[in-house]
Amino acid sequence: MGLDAAAKKSLLRKIPHGLFICGVAEGDQVNGFTASWVTQGSFEPPLVVVGVRSDSTSNGIIQRTGRFSLNVLSAEQKDLAAVFFKPQQGIGGRFEAAPFQLGELGLPILDDALGAVECELVGQVAHGDHTVFVGEVKSAVLHREGEALELSATGWSYGG
Ligand SMILES: Cc1cc2nc3c(=O)[nH]c(=O)nc-3n(C[C@H](O)[C@H](O)[C@H](O)COP(=O)(O)O)c2cc1C
Repeated sequence: MGLDAAAKKSLLRKIPHGLFICGVAEGDQVNGFTASWVTQGSFEPPLVVVGVRSDSTSNGIIQRTGRFSLNVLSAEQKDLAAVFFKPQQGIGGRFEAAPFQLGELGLPILDDALGAVECELVGQVAHGDHTVFVGEVKSAVLHREGEALELSATGWSYGG
């Protein structure tokens, strides 16, 4: 029996997601993009999992540098999430809308996000149109407490 594509789409879209800005850096270049396919994968060591489009600029940078950051957006930062999924003039151009500092691992940490973690790549599955990266959390910066932005609150969808 073949896969019921409509059922698969409906069910996979029910997986709850947050919205994050995944940051990468290579040489003196930084880049960032909106990511929703993010989850925790282990307590000890602390692992996070992120699915990243195979043909994206950031995917290649993660492959080459073995690291990425995840910035947690606040519930009020839908506009910022939109900036980070739209095409940009040049690599890193989206950061004109969002001041940032480089963290301990040299990865972009947005000043206005709730906070961010920096991760070292410990595994990956490259199969299909996204690569599943597993990162070990090596640094964490909490700027403030607050509600995080959830995909369900935006009216957007990414999945299915
Ligand atoms: C709501 C939403 C969620 C997204 N989630 C992801 C994601 O989890 N992983 C991913 O690779 N791209 C995701 N994207 C798409 C990227 O943000 C987009 O492809 C971006 O332009 C990639 O940037 P880059 O090519 O500069 O790396 C999402 C887009 C939207 C609108």
